[in-house]
Amino acid sequence: NSVQKNNFDHFMLKEIHEEPQVVKDTIHSIMPNDVSDLSNAFPNLEKFNNIHIVGCGSAMYAGMVAKYMIEQYVRIRCECYCASEYRYQTPIYDENTLAVFISQSGETADTLAALRKVKEYGVKTYAIVNVIGSALSKEADHVIYTQAGKEVSVATTKAYCSQLCILSLMTIHLALLHNKLSSEDLKEIKEELSLLPDYIEKMIDYPYYETLAQQISTHDNVFFIGRGIDYILSLEGSLKLKEISYIHSEAYPAGELKHGTISLIEDKTPVIALVNEERLYEKTMSNIKEVKARGANVLLFVKDMRNISEDVYDECFLLPSLSKFLQGIVSIVPLQMLAYTCAKQRGCEIDQPRNLAKSVTVE
Ligand code: G6P
Repeated sequence: NSVQKNNFDHFMLKEIHEEPQVVKDTIHSIMPNDVSDLSNAFPNLEKFNNIHIVGCGSAMYAGMVAKYMIEQYVRIRCECYCASEYRYQTPIYDENTLAVFISQSGETADTLAALRKVKEYGVKTYAIVNVIGSALSKEADHVIYTQAGKEVSVATTKAYCSQLCILSLMTIHLALLHNKLSSEDLKEIKEELSLLPDYIEKMIDYPYYETLAQQISTHDNVFFIGRGIDYILSLEGSLKLKEISYIHSEAYPAGELKHGTISLIEDKTPVIALVNEERLYEKTMSNIKEVKARGANVLLFVKDMRNISEDVYDECFLLPSLSKFLQGIVSIVPLQMLAYTCAKQRGCEIDQPRNLAKSVTVE
């Protein structure tokens, strides 16, 4: 294998450090010129009013971010499915359905089987794939390549980031086609796209991950909470943490905690709260107070510190504030770094976690 770790202790850390460049390359490949016309990258999207997004693991979680954005900001029907379920279900397709398959490897057995199934029904397919020439890339009607380069660490980081980039751009393109973006929105998006790599770099260079990770790495159970897109990003943050550090971790919609899971909150249980969603800000804050009152050790990731009293958190991380299409791409980076740092503090192998494979080519 010609890819080297260079000066990094692990491939995972090296790959996180590649994210600014990967994001730059991905954006450039989708929009060599301008964000206001992405029809080369995403052909014929106007005719679809029902989108299915399918993948496994982190690829599915990237798809969930897109489902959320497409439904909220484009107002067309969009569902995200886990490939191992989708292939055995009977989702509702018609001639206006587009099925989008997301996969780093392009070889995941369930994702490939799901693609083959919908093709039998005549459904049009897109594949968002990292590995050039992979099975999915050959079989889909249209392929969009993430520009992540070879990813060695089993736990995906830069490929997930690149998937989010493509899905954000696809959502922006759909929003334009459906007249959901003003010229001011577009101007803001353009500016932010050019700044995105710098924002990501800042997230990576934050100097206190060790301190944050110390709050978590001696515990057996951790909870992530958030609402809306923050819940979806938490799913990925939680998966990263559990797969490489072997700490049991669950992500919950913040408002759902009180229906059972809050009984697991004890003195010092780490709760990682993600708060980007402005319209749900007060609601999430009240859930954070609920866990805090039960002794939780709260690590707050928030993009706006105004009106936050110091007694609701133990540690706080300030996220940059971007438009709703791009916030997820920067917000996931500190969660990746946190997972990595916890696993390192626990002396885990990191790049090759037990029982896991980079690509699951059998069912
Ligand atoms: C494995 C990997 C995950 C990945 C998933 C889907 O479980 O460990 O990191 O998200 O497969 O893989 P794919 O190649 O389809 O994205």
